Amino acid sequence: MIDKIEQLKKEIQDFNLSGNDELEAFRLKFLSRNGEVQEMFKLMGSVPKQEKAAVGKAMNEVKVLAQNKFDTAKKELESSTKKEFGALDDITLPVEPSFTGSFHPLTQALDEIKQIFLRLGFNIADGPELEDDFHNFTALNFPPDHPARDMQDTFFVRKSDDPKSDDLVLRTHTSPVQIRLMKEQKPPLRSIMPGRVFRNEAVTAKSYFQFNQVEGLYVDEHVTMGELIETLVMFARLMYGSDVKYRVRPSFFPFTEPSLEMDVWWGSENGGQWLEILGAGMVDPNVFDATGVDSEKYTGFAFGMGVDRIAMLRYGIDDIRLLYENDIRFLNQFKS
Ligand code: DAH
Repeated sequence: MIDKIEQLKKEIQDFNLSGNDELEAFRLKFLSRNGEVQEMFKLMGSVPKQEKAAVGKAMNEVKVLAQNKFDTAKKELESSTKKEFGALDDITLPVEPSFTGSFHPLTQALDEIKQIFLRLGFNIADGPELEDDFHNFTALNFPPDHPARDMQDTFFVRKSDDPKSDDLVLRTHTSPVQIRLMKEQKPPLRSIMPGRVFRNEAVTAKSYFQFNQVEGLYVDEHVTMGELIETLVMFARLMYGSDVKYRVRPSFFPFTEPSLEMDVWWGSENGGQWLEILGAGMVDPNVFDATGVDSEKYTGFAFGMGVDRIAMLRYGIDDIRLLYENDIRFLNQFKS
């Protein structure tokens, strides 16, 4: 009898409980009502009286061994599956909301501007944010003593006393990209040039030390002022709706002659104001000369607009600083 018990004990000890299937097989084989442990107890009746105590003790040990082995393995299996499938513990729990990003209002405004000019047959070009004095000022027909070159407005990265070496600046506008384009490519040219620009200005709700512009340039034979105005009106209608109220005023820029500015009316019939949205003009022949474009053969128009202003108008943003602080509570409002 004792041998039989020893053999059962060994079987229990050797049983491999590595998974749920084995656990169940173990339970059925040893611990169930008809399992081998219960069957063993049934043999008690045939055990001689004087051995009953010892045999009973041995049987009980085997029973406890089987139960302990089962309980320990079950606990281990449960905790390891929990680690693996933690999130599935309770599939009726609501899922945590996942974070979806959104496009920055500047990106959205810029995309709209790009789409409009792509429709009008323009392509997209770009140039560096770090410029030399030649591209940012000289080639654009800024006289040497022009106030825009003053330290007040321009971030100088390298200021040289040697008149032969150029200053390096953070570009103050996107117009230098016009110069690069005219130097690198032959007319006809029809491009817009979006980009970030920098001015050494006090930070307020209305001005910031960096902002975004979109430059435009169209150079070909016989380009006229009429085409310039038509293009700008087309832009205003596509951007602000066909009932947009606009006006075009004469202005001055060193690199265009004649020059103009365009305003759109912002507000209702009885309350509102004119807001300038862009500067433009016919490319000054001096600019053609500086870039090697034949000013006898070609004419052209150029324009430059502020993307920040357009985004602020479009979304009713009254403080430009919000566009650069990347506060998630602000940005989350521009999900499209
Ligand atoms: N560069 C000008 C500025 O930053 C904007 C501008 C005006 C660009 C007239 C042009 C233009 O191309 O023709 O204020």
